[in-house]
Amino acid sequence: MQRAPGFDTLAVHAGDSPDPSTGALERPIVHASAYAFESAEDAAAQFRGVLGGDGRSGHIDRGHIYTRWSNPTVNALETKLAALEGAEASVVLASGMAAVTGAIEAFVASGDHVVAPRGLYAETARLLRERMPRFAVTTTFVNDVHVESYRRAITPRTRIVYAETPANPTLAITDLRALADMLRACEAEGVGHPSGMLLVVDGTFATPYHQRPLALGADLVLHSMTKALCGHGDAIGGVVSGRAELVTRLRADAVRTAGAVLSPPTAMLLSRGVRTLGLRMKQASGTALELARRLEADPRIARVHYPGLASHPHHALARTQMERGFGAMIAFEVAGGLEAGARAYDAVEVIARAVSLGDVRSLLTHPASTTSASMPREDRIAGGITDGLMRLSVGIEDVEDLWADLDRALA
Ligand SMILES: Cc1ncc(COP(=O)(O)O)c(C=O)c1O
Repeated sequence: MQRAPGFDTLAVHAGDSPDPSTGALERPIVHASAYAFESAEDAAAQFRGVLGGDGRSGHIDRGHIYTRWSNPTVNALETKLAALEGAEASVVLASGMAAVTGAIEAFVASGDHVVAPRGLYAETARLLRERMPRFAVTTTFVNDVHVESYRRAITPRTRIVYAETPANPTLAITDLRALADMLRACEAEGVGHPSGMLLVVDGTFATPYHQRPLALGADLVLHSMTKALCGHGDAIGGVVSGRAELVTRLRADAVRTAGAVLSPPTAMLLSRGVRTLGLRMKQASGTALELARRLEADPRIARVHYPGLASHPHHALARTQMERGFGAMIAFEVAGGLEAGARAYDAVEVIARAVSLGDVRSLLTHPASTTSASMPREDRIAGGITDGLMRLSVGIEDVEDLWADLDRALA
């Protein structure tokens, strides 16, 4: 029996094959917006295939009509991501937020309900708090990530149950298998939406290298590809993966109709990034664990949140739910509060002061004044995003250089 390819082999080879017309190992980027038909009959057949079929024309080299519907360079990236995620299908979109918005909006109707945790990426929280109610879709935000809290919030109109794990920026871990089991048990008892409930998971902080939510029972997993999947801080994109039937609906709704299409040159940059995802995550998560340990032992630090530390409240769960390590994101509070934190923030030299994450460069963020500033203060604090919390995205630099930078900045 042939061995199933490992993660790094899939990252390099899935979706990629030599260009059939030239033999080029690296396929040319297909920039075209439209594709030629052979005849009136061919045009009509292509349209029948797209509009009546799965929303894309199937194979990579022929059968494309218009790049908002499908494109060979974009499709190759989707094939690679589906392989890494262990998914039937993936759809890539113009940004992580397009993925979040699409994964919710494609499956709800007016009057439906969403359950989500309070500690979420702030723009996702704003989508649920401010945008969705305009279409009469409401959200109950639960204060913690316990399955019982989610269960209590389910109503007869709950269609989407949303999780972000590890959460941005608090690193809280949601028990995906327990959450999925609870939803399936509810459905069996007729609890929740008459059409069933979908567990949608934002796995951006973990990447498919560390966590595969579909294998744990999630219906859809999404990522901001802008982060570690890209890895080099030079492209914006999003991806949603899951059962083909769900992905097809999402593609039709969010990409073909709402137009959140990823451009082909960006797809090429992202494909290149994904090929080294495993190598980068191995280095960055190893360094993150070491830095988290040193920060925790340091009297200048009040608290460290990292799922790989035994002191993390969800460490035991992270050990079973995450694979090959715990990711490259650390959150910490500097002793001496916000002012001491701001002084350290100003003093780093190797680490960049910037938002975003998952880059080869280490990046330091102060969420309360930047990425989470749009959240109402009480929501922010209830979600664990305290005034003094700092978020460090660990890059692939040498661990001793990163430690020397932090040590000096904290001095
Ligand atoms: C967890 C998480 N989800 C989604 C997003 C949105 O991604 P994008 O910036 O690519 O739209 C981000 C961005 O920071 C994020 O951190």
